[in-house]
Amino acid sequence: MKALVLSGGKGTRLRPLTHTMPKQLVPVANEPILGYVFRHIQEAGIKDVGVVVSPETQNDVRSYLGKGSRWRVRIDYIPQEQPLGLAHAVKIARPFLGDSPFVMYLGDNLLAQGIKEFVEDFHSAGLDALIFLKEVDNPRAFGVAVLNKKGEVTKLVEKPKNPPSNLALVGVYFFSAGIHAAIDRIRPSGRGELEITDAIQELMHSGGSVKGQILADWWLDTGKKDDFLAANTVVLDEYIKRDIQGKVDSKSEVSGRIRMEKTAKIVNSRLRGPVVIGKRCEIVNSFIGPHTTIGHGTRIINSAIEHSVILDKCHIENIARLEDSLVGREAKVVHPQNHSRALRLLIGDNNVVEV
Ligand code: DAU
Repeated sequence: MKALVLSGGKGTRLRPLTHTMPKQLVPVANEPILGYVFRHIQEAGIKDVGVVVSPETQNDVRSYLGKGSRWRVRIDYIPQEQPLGLAHAVKIARPFLGDSPFVMYLGDNLLAQGIKEFVEDFHSAGLDALIFLKEVDNPRAFGVAVLNKKGEVTKLVEKPKNPPSNLALVGVYFFSAGIHAAIDRIRPSGRGELEITDAIQELMHSGGSVKGQILADWWLDTGKKDDFLAANTVVLDEYIKRDIQGKVDSKSEVSGRIRMEKTAKIVNSRLRGPVVIGKRCEIVNSFIGPHTTIGHGTRIINSAIEHSVILDKCHIENIARLEDSLVGREAKVVHPQNHSRALRLLIGDNNVVEV
């Protein structure tokens, strides 16, 4: 089995953050989403991975993944000139995929459970496609599936105005080589994309066996700010263990599950977990509350932050309360004395906010 990771596209929805950072590389608990994807691929024992990249994002993606040795896999990069759809990405990956069965993993999806057990299920059941589904409150934002009483997929629609169910397609799909012929038979959708949902529907029409697996655990599509903060919260809740490596002075108090890197420094501050503090951070006279991630090289002075993600090399000073916020790399949020009102911000990389 091979893996195909989709890391192209334009990433329009997490703007302004993704003006400068592909959304697949936005870090959750200081690890890019693609890192979680590759961990699942490694756990499943897959060795050959094709990564679809776009002209805008390929340098960043290549410099993070390299040749794949960190996950003991071999990577083939597959450039896609334009984001013409998920099925288009499979089409251009055909020389890499050959006739091998494969798992397609969307690079901006974060799943609690790995994919290992499903690789085995897919092989033993002799399926043409296995798709993952999850009940959601907003099915209009996703591909939507209808299952019959036996749990077989009977219909798939992409982002329907009137959703026939609340079962969304999760961004992980297992395919046999039969998907290629189905893709050859479909045409671009109204939004001009070759849709993978249409290809799977076509596979079913031509007699292919397609099974839907409803996920028990959480799944997050991290394309939007609130989803992204939710992803951070869930990962902090589920994965973070207490591991304090940096320097904490005698006036500071560090309680709960905190992961803190060796070179971080805490001075006269209170930290309440779950919290992740990156390398070379400096937290001075401040409070860092639950569900907060502080990126590498960030300085927080005289401030209080809760339920937020602050990326690398930021500077936050004299902000009495910053919550539910996402602050891009190298951004500066400062007040000359002490800003007393609560702030909720979505700030792109390199921005300066003087409150
Ligand atoms: O996240 C699950 C959803 O993903 C499914 O419910 C939908 O059925 C499926 O179409 C997809 O919808 P999105 O609107 O979220 O897809 P998006 O355009 O964000 O692309 C998903 C990933 O694939 C993203 O990492 C970018 C990459 N991509 C996308 C396109 C259209 C490519 O590499 N090439 C492409 O041409």
